[in-house]
Amino acid sequence: MAPGDRHGQAPPHTHPKGDAMTEPTPIHHPNPAGIKRVAVLTSGGDAPGMNAAIRAVVRTATFEGIEVVGVRRGFSGLHRGELQLLGPRDVANTIQRGGTVLLTARSSTWRTPEGRARGAAHLREWNVDGLIVIGGDGSFHGGHYLQQEHGVPVVGVPGTIDNDLYGTDHTIGYFTAVETALDAVDKLRDTGASHERIFVIEVMGRHAGHIALDVAVAGGAEEVFIPEDGKPVADAIAVVQDSVAKGKLGSIIIVAEGYPGGAQGVADAIQAETGLETRVSILGHIQRGGSPVSSDRILASRLGEASVYALMEGRSNVMVGRGSGGITYTPLHETWEKRKDVSRDLYRCAKTLSV
Ligand code: F6P
Repeated sequence: MAPGDRHGQAPPHTHPKGDAMTEPTPIHHPNPAGIKRVAVLTSGGDAPGMNAAIRAVVRTATFEGIEVVGVRRGFSGLHRGELQLLGPRDVANTIQRGGTVLLTARSSTWRTPEGRARGAAHLREWNVDGLIVIGGDGSFHGGHYLQQEHGVPVVGVPGTIDNDLYGTDHTIGYFTAVETALDAVDKLRDTGASHERIFVIEVMGRHAGHIALDVAVAGGAEEVFIPEDGKPVADAIAVVQDSVAKGKLGSIIIVAEGYPGGAQGVADAIQAETGLETRVSILGHIQRGGSPVSSDRILASRLGEASVYALMEGRSNVMVGRGSGGITYTPLHETWEKRKDVSRDLYRCAKTLSV
């Protein structure tokens, strides 16, 4: 199909509620922005639930009589013109799949004004009225500049396992990553206790300790090191010595990837100072894969839907998120400029329970 073609009939703007005799209830969303076609891409590190978000975008838009263009390989693909129309059947059987069917990339060309201009030209060529970016802060930077320089309405959907975006309680993929890491910690505990070893386990989180903190509490760790905290590595030595004195069968120490020196640094310090048998396990990219847990699927479905509505309402340069009051809208630049704190209560809890 040629880029400019539109296909499909708009659905009826009412549908009967209850029995066929009752007055039909309008359930379609207002579209004051007159959106007829949106584009969607996934960008940066993949996260379980991205497919559920793509599916929600495609299905919500279809329901509202709006067409969807899928962009493959994130901003790299947008720059190269890798666009294709997506219908509701194209996203069938994807809600349970990890990764992203649209593929993803970290784009260097997008960092140049020329690269962004090429991408904007492709969107114009395809008559796209707004772009939905599913990703993390790097991806939102890309969307922000596209909007600022070329006036393309952009809405962000938080998709990263790190949960490090200000403006939403959780990001898509976070819940699954925590479950995956926790499963590994439980298994390492079995072998660690059997050998009376110290296990220092590194979880993902380049700049943030959200995964580490959740996993430490849920996995019953003795200690946790996160980038947000200035805690010296020497604290690990005291914790381990204390554990031995209390007669614990081994210890579990969780380290977020972004903590200076990482798990290896912590393990080296323990080994050098105490001579106790210490093992390092870096969980790495395994945390990004797998079928999304229900919380990620539900979050992705709601935010995918909300992103289409946001464009229809004329919102732009915002991220849709979820807080206690429902859907939130946060200017894209605030998602990375403002800091989302880890839960200090959880931090305290982790320490209290390791007594
Ligand atoms: O941003 C998500 C994340 O998984 C980080 O936790 C990690 O540091 C990074 O991506 C790894 O990126 P890459 O896929 O480029 O190795």
